[in-house]
Amino acid sequence: MRQKENWEFDWQRRWCQLYELPENKARVLEYWIKYRHLEDIQKIVPVDNETYILDVGCGISTVLHYLPGHRYGIDPLIERYKTIYAYPPELTLQAAYGESIPFPDSYFNLVICSNCIDHTLDPAITIAEIHRVLTSGGHFILTCEVFEANLGKRNAAHPYSMNVEKLMDLVSRFNIIASWNSPWIGLQRYILDQPPTEQREQIFLLSK
Ligand SMILES: C[S@@+](CC[C@H](N)C(=O)[O-])C[C@H]1O[C@@H](n2cnc3c(N)ncnc32)[C@H](O)[C@@H]1O
Repeated sequence: MRQKENWEFDWQRRWCQLYELPENKARVLEYWIKYRHLEDIQKIVPVDNETYILDVGCGISTVLHYLPGHRYGIDPLIERYKTIYAYPPELTLQAAYGESIPFPDSYFNLVICSNCIDHTLDPAITIAEIHRVLTSGGHFILTCEVFEANLGKRNAAHPYSMNVEKLMDLVSRFNIIASWNSPWIGLQRYILDQPPTEQREQIFLLSK
């Protein structure tokens, strides 16, 4: 566990040096719009000052930076991230695992889990927890790298590798509103103007 957490932290520490620059913050939003279809999603899902939003595995460059509403983020490493990054004060951040979300049933209108489900130790329990904390009719945005081959455990931070079928199976208790299969560039590669890699990123907009 220590090795996994150090791997995640070291990655975020390097990433933070880039993300902190205002022009790169703007480019991350650009990435969300271009490859994770944020504007298309917002045409379907109303997000305003009254929306309760949770980002599971929020990391440093959480999409909560770019949304209105009551914004909550959980991440097991949040206290370490706070030592290297000044989050906007309006975000409520808590150290927690997706496998045990510290909020009551039906608390959120929108849950987001981006580039995190294949980092969790138990993706199925994490998805069940997300389902539990969503209101009936609430929405769930899931993004995850997907591979053609089953690569199994990829490195210390990724106990699993996913493909589209595995993800479909994991989210079978939700209704699929929309899905997209985008090139996988990743935030850091995008900012550094590097080309897409061979894998893809699957994006699901789901409802409970
Ligand atoms: C690649 S980062 C993604 C961060 C952010 N969501 C994004 O899209 O930029 C993966 C994050 O998942 C977190 N994480 C790892 N295991 C987790 C778990 N079991 N529950 C919730 N978050 C976890 C890591 O600490 C890390 O911050």
